Amino acid sequence: MCGIVGYFGQKDPKEVIVGGLKRLEYRGYDSAGVAILDGPMGQQHIKVVRAQGKLAELSKKLEHEKFTGRLGIGHTRWATHGVPSERNAHPHTVEGVSLVHNGIIENYQDIKRTLAASGATFTSDTDSELVAHLLSRKVKETGDLLKAVDGILPLLRGAYAIVAMWEKQPDVLVAFKNGPPLVIGLGEKEVIVASDVQAIISHTNKVVYIDDHEIAFVKGADLKVFTAGGNSIKKEIQTITWSADQVEKAGFKHFMHKEIHEQPRAVANACAPHIDLAAKVVRLHDVGLTDAQFKKIERIFIIACGTSYYAGVAGKYVIEKIAQVPVETDIASEFRYRSPVIPPNTLVVTISQSGETADTLAALRLAKKMGALTLSICNVRASSIDREADGRIYMNSGPEIGVASTKAFVSTLAVLNLFSVYLGSVRGQLAKNEETNIVENMLALPAQMEAVLSYDKFFGEAAMKLKDYRGVLFMGRGVSYPIALEGALKLKELAYMHAEGYAAGEMKHGPLALIDDRMLILMVCPSDEHYEKSLSNLEEARARGGKIMSIGTGDDAALKAVSDDYLSLPVANWMVNPILAALPVQLLAYHVADAMGNDVDQPRNLAKSVTVE
Ligand code: M6R
Repeated sequence: MCGIVGYFGQKDPKEVIVGGLKRLEYRGYDSAGVAILDGPMGQQHIKVVRAQGKLAELSKKLEHEKFTGRLGIGHTRWATHGVPSERNAHPHTVEGVSLVHNGIIENYQDIKRTLAASGATFTSDTDSELVAHLLSRKVKETGDLLKAVDGILPLLRGAYAIVAMWEKQPDVLVAFKNGPPLVIGLGEKEVIVASDVQAIISHTNKVVYIDDHEIAFVKGADLKVFTAGGNSIKKEIQTITWSADQVEKAGFKHFMHKEIHEQPRAVANACAPHIDLAAKVVRLHDVGLTDAQFKKIERIFIIACGTSYYAGVAGKYVIEKIAQVPVETDIASEFRYRSPVIPPNTLVVTISQSGETADTLAALRLAKKMGALTLSICNVRASSIDREADGRIYMNSGPEIGVASTKAFVSTLAVLNLFSVYLGSVRGQLAKNEETNIVENMLALPAQMEAVLSYDKFFGEAAMKLKDYRGVLFMGRGVSYPIALEGALKLKELAYMHAEGYAAGEMKHGPLALIDDRMLILMVCPSDEHYEKSLSNLEEARARGGKIMSIGTGDDAALKAVSDDYLSLPVANWMVNPILAALPVQLLAYHVADAMGNDVDQPRNLAKSVTVE
């Protein structure tokens, strides 16, 4: 849940590390720090600079700092053990050994007791400092950082990605992991170790992904990878296809706003590999599962967290209707800790933008252990979930940097639509003309999304009204229900306003009691089979003095008549409506949060990639 960077090379390590941390700040932003070698050759020592708060605070402190060494590490933190403060910020350094850590050492109390009993004193409240103590002791025995890492690994339990340096080996970095991601960029006479390729891409597009229980040994500009115990492993060098420009704001005030506007392209890219344009059919080539396997499926579980989970809820509606396969949706942190029953011929679909969410990864592993066939829908290629699933479909959204997920959500909805069509078609549940109709709607979708986004300013004006309310009740029926859930989540995480997502049919069963003129009802009510019922719910709310903002199709006079504000979407197929309706709910949350002066890209207390429980 933190961002880590390590560097060895001919460039200024301070610039490379801070530049990399800037790209990783989405992972955590309560404190940051660097440890870089300094001093004359032969007598170099580690100089550490750390600061509480966002990376900008560290940058201020580093402005006039110069380092003579070529080796360093850096970290941007999302606190787990110990409050956000300078003393808890990484890197943690003990007698010439410095390290940065992403994750949680679960047996830290045992380690701390043992260390304290043998005289160690601590300068922070973190679990990470304890690993620095263990390493500094071990390196005294072994005289070599790689051997020291190998020696302490059996002592560590939990999830971690760690990069360590030792001032006695001024051209060596050792990185090791269990859980959180680690990727290593191989540039021209330089090596960059990071939590994510975004910190690497402006230097090189050649990368090696480190797997759990592997140890990466960087000496000079060379990389070697070992198992615990010292066996050498041959790793594949992969080429990243993203460009550095994709991780810039391109004139937008926030990444989130840019990413909302990138959604038509994201949806087109998500669909492109799977649509045969000439035949107007869906083909799921290269997903790693066969038609025979798809035909055998009797039940599907969709498992994910947060926004990805809400995309999964939408998937349930479309898969059940189009492919006639029963679907259960589950929150990953619930699935993994109950006793799920997975009947034979079950497909478990895990959805994760980052591909690293700890609960979703654990759920995937559990499902595999229980014999389910697994399919991942991820954005980040070669992420843990992507690699571990039996089959994979990509969101293809490009890098998503805003902590609040937007384009990954709509890309997932698009992918799930195509998946349901393919499943329906191979199982003989979907007629060719119906498939053609859905494909045509999917192909027309990016242009319709552009049209909705051209009303950005209008959604911004509507958003200003949200500030007057003490809360917002988002509601919808059918496939609009997950959009209500997602709209409420966006408002919570960005505007810090209380909001709830409800199935509109549930209104009478409790939420109606909330309704007064300080509670806004936001009804997602496109013209589909649920329209009449949603309209009746609005009448009931209005009769009780409720204030209503609705999202509907075209120029809907009846809906307008019961609404204080009305936001219009183009006429579209029912499967496409949720993708269109996602845009105004995202923009409402974005604009109100921006007007409130909130940090839209990095909302308080959150981090993008939740690699710890
Ligand atoms: O990377 P994932 O899709 O697995 O992440 C899941 C959630 O943590 C994520 O969707 C979270 O809810 C976002 N902040 C929502 O905007």
